[in-house]
Amino acid sequence: MPAFAETTPPGNPKAVKEEDGKYFDASGAPTYNIKPDGTVDWFTYSGYRRYHAECHVCHGPDGMGSTYAPALVDSLKVMNYDQFQEVVVGGRQNVGGGNDKVMPSFGLNKNVMCYLDDLYVYLRARSDDALGRVRPPKRDDKTQGTINAEKTCLGE
Ligand code: HEC
Repeated sequence: MPAFAETTPPGNPKAVKEEDGKYFDASGAPTYNIKPDGTVDWFTYSGYRRYHAECHVCHGPDGMGSTYAPALVDSLKVMNYDQFQEVVVGGRQNVGGGNDKVMPSFGLNKNVMCYLDDLYVYLRARSDDALGRVRPPKRDDKTQGTINAEKTCLGE
C-alpha cells in the first residue's frame, strides 16, 4: 500500500507531445511511448537500467516491491509525477507503527537526479502493464539533445 495519505493518480498516460525523443501526456508529465512491435522510447529503456542500478535493491526487481520497500508498480498507479519527484528528491521515513523503514533522499545524487524522468517513465509503463517484467528488447536511439542535456546535468 502506498504510504501517502493523499495522492493524485497520474491520469491518462497517452503521449500527446514529443520533444527530442521524450514523450509527454496531456498534463505535461513525462510518459512512455511503446510501439506495437515492442520498441520503447529511449527514456523507458534508460529508466529500466537506472532503476535496476539505483532502486531495485530495496524496491525489488521490475518495481515489484520487497519486504522492505513498497512495490512501485502499485505506487505509480496512485501517485503523480510531482509526488514521485518529491519522495525521490527528499526521501521519506515512515515514522510510528514501530517501523523504521527509510526511503533515502536522492536530491544530491546526480545518478538519480539526472534521470528522474527516465525512472518515472519506466515505472509508469510498468504500473500500467504497458511493459512486462522484461528488459525492453527494442528501443529508440538516444537523441543528440538528450546526450547534451545529460552532459549538462552531470556537469561534464
Ligand atoms: C535503501 C532502500 C531504498 C532505496 C535504495 C530506494 N528506496 Fe524508495 N523507498 C524505500 C522505503 C523503505 C520506502 C517507504 C518509506 C515510507 O513508507 O515512508 C520507499 C518509498 C518510495 C516511494 C513512495 C512509494 C509509496 O507508495 O508511497 C517512491 C516513489 C520511491 N521510494 C522511489 C524510489 C526510487 C525511484 C528509487 C531509486 C532511485 C528508490 N526509491 C530507492 C526504500 C528505498
